[in-house]
Parts: sequence; C-alpha cells; structure tokens
Amino acid sequence: MLQLLLQLRNTGNISQDDSVWSVTTSNVKSKTISVDHMVGHLTLFLIAGFETSASTAAFTLYELTQHPKVMAKAKEDVINALAKHGGKLSYDAIQDMKYLELCIMETARKYPALPILNRECTKDYQLPNSSLTIKKGTPIVISLMGLHRDEQHFPNPMSYEPERFTEEHRNYNPTAYMPFGEGPRQCIGVRMGKVNVKIALAKILSTFNLEPCQEKREIEFTIHGISLMPEDGVPVKVSRKK
Ligand code: HEM
Repeated sequence: MLQLLLQLRNTGNISQDDSVWSVTTSNVKSKTISVDHMVGHLTLFLIAGFETSASTAAFTLYELTQHPKVMAKAKEDVINALAKHGGKLSYDAIQDMKYLELCIMETARKYPALPILNRECTKDYQLPNSSLTIKKGTPIVISLMGLHRDEQHFPNPMSYEPERFTEEHRNYNPTAYMPFGEGPRQCIGVRMGKVNVKIALAKILSTFNLEPCQEKREIEFTIHGISLMPEDGVPVKVSRKK
C-alpha cells in the first residue's frame, strides 16, 4: 500500500502492471499527493481495516462463551472443516466454515464495528408524516447500531442468534442489515475483513479453551473511539487445550 502511494506521489499514477514496483520517474517534477494525504490514507486503512476486524473477532468470542451451545456448534464447524482440508487453515477450509460465518454475521449485526455511517443529503427530503425537511447539503449520521438493534427489523434483537441468518429462518429485514455500509462508499475491505475474522476465530477456537469469566451481561461501550469499543474490555477466560 505504501509502495503504491509512493508510486502515485512520484510518478502521477499507479502502474497497471503488477510487476512494476518502481517509485521513480524522470518526467514528473512535482509531487502529485502530499505526505499528509498519504498518512491519512494509511491511517484510515489501519483503523478501518484492523480495529474493525479485531473487535468483531473479540465480540464473537465473548458471545460464544456466553452461549455454550453456539460455541459447541462453532467449534465443531471449525474442527470438521480443518479435518476435511488435512488440518490446513487454507482459504478453502475457511470457506467451508459455514456456521462460523453465521456467527460473524450475527456479531456484525449486534456489534457493528463502525456503529454509524456518514452521508450528505443530495436533495431536499421531506420526512414522511412530519413537517421536517432535510435540506440538500445537510450532513447525516445514520445509526447502524440503532438499526441493527431495532426489533422491527431483527426480532429479539439483544439475543445472539446466528440461526436468524440461515436460509430456512431468514427472520430479519435484509435492507436494514448493513455492517459494511451500503452504496458507492461501502467498505472496500468486506471480503478481507470477513476472512481475517474467520482466520482469527478458527485459530483461537482450535487452540484454546474459552470460558465465561462473569455472569451474562450486556457489554457497555466507550464513546472515546471511532470504532465500537468496549468500556472494560471483553472478559473471556482463555486456557490452552491439553
Ligand atoms: C469486520 C471488518 C470490517 C467492518 C465491519 C468494516 C465496516 C466498514 C463500514 C461500516 C464502513 C463505512 C461504509 C459506508 O459508509 O457505507 C467501512 C468503510 C471502509 N472500510 Fe471497512 N470494515 C471492515 C474491514 C475493513 C478492511 C479489512 C479494510 C481494508 C483493508 C477496510 C477498509 C475500509 C475503508 C478504506 C473504508 C472507507 C471507504 C470509503 O469511504 O470509500 N475495512 N468499513
């Protein structure tokens, strides 16, 4: 990423040829993007890409320890997929972990790693059944957390139920579910994010025993973060498997 940004800065474009990594050119005299701009892109990738994946994995582990039956199914799913693929945590093995995928979907619903979406109103909009008009140009904050925990869209929203996403149940409103955002500014790392979370969970579940270390309670969040961050960490007891 840094190499590509340096190439853009120094040469004015990014080569279409994947084997070209050079960042030097003789034709361009002025730099096309500033160092501040590059730092901004890199920082965004770090926050948007890693904090989100890490917290999705952590919240999943918390919910699994609170729900032993779900934990047992998730472990079985990981063990079966690994056995089918010769014990290797390959991309294909990850794809076969279907139940784990449902768990991640449910975590991303109850704990959207970025709890709000930012937009700007592009034309005047009269809110239905209201005298309020949102004027063109108004910045809008959409609460993903609010949508994802609204029982109109997700029955029993505070309950952790990966099965709600199975083909047979599908008891949720798909248009209200957008953990990676929606439209042209949707997350560009959807697939990488999901794969990273799955790898982390598969490794942890197959290596460690996890137990709850407190009575069931809802996690509280700090307001001092861009991504969804727990106030007092995510309490889980971890011990190596014998
Ligand atoms: C579980 C993991 C992740 C979650 C839940 C997540 C969620 C999101 C959400 C909700 C947005 C805002 C989308 C919108 O406004 O419509 C976003 C944007 C973004 N994400 Fe992710 N993300 C994850 C992983 C990643 C990864 C792995 C990367 C990059 C390596 C990444 C890079 C970005 C970037 C660059 C944006 C800004 C896109 C733009 O404004 O055009 N994300 N992500």
